[in-house]
Amino acid sequence: MNMIRLGDIAPDFSAESTEGSLDFHEWLGDRWGMLVSHPADFTPVCTTELGAMANYEEEFEARNVRIAAISIDPLKSHFNWIKDIEETQNARVDFPIVADEKGEVAKLYGMIHPNNDATMTVRSVFIIAPDKRVKLILTYPASTGRNFDELLRVVDSLQLTYYEYLATPANWKNGDDLVILPSVSNEEAERLFPKGFVEVKPYLRLTPQL
Ligand code: BEZ
Repeated sequence: MNMIRLGDIAPDFSAESTEGSLDFHEWLGDRWGMLVSHPADFTPVCTTELGAMANYEEEFEARNVRIAAISIDPLKSHFNWIKDIEETQNARVDFPIVADEKGEVAKLYGMIHPNNDATMTVRSVFIIAPDKRVKLILTYPASTGRNFDELLRVVDSLQLTYYEYLATPANWKNGDDLVILPSVSNEEAERLFPKGFVEVKPYLRLTPQL
């Protein structure tokens, strides 16, 4: 079982998907990516999740994030299931769902947790930065549907840290104050953050986002 850790290069793969052949790194290009695995087609929680994902696609696109789903089911099953998702979730699925019938991608990404279930992928989320490095890994059990507001929140946070010298505090939401990275000196912070900052402690400095 492959183990991926934060900072690793996301494994590349080629696979068939509902949007045609997918060469993962090439498909990502210089964008961010989010790859989510689901346990199986035609299951209730997965149906709601993929519908939600479709309805959030614009939000991900606005953040330059390409999204894809994957399970160990054949392409034909994915296509048939999409009809149900669109019918029941008021959604249009036009992101790729990878058909990983042999479980090759699942193995590469460690999406099968044999002590949980040897045949189904767990609900994994991998968020990948433009340098192809894995920035977030989340693992949910089959019985817990993911929260796509949370995933957008994490993307917002990751992008702040990726492009600026900032981090986000507990329960941060877009618009709240941001944490200045400890590696930034006060002199640099004055230059980098024209809105100023509050030094609560020398290691805890906050600057307004808006
Ligand atoms: C579901 O998506 O509803 C589901 C999938 C596998 C096991 C249990 C629930």
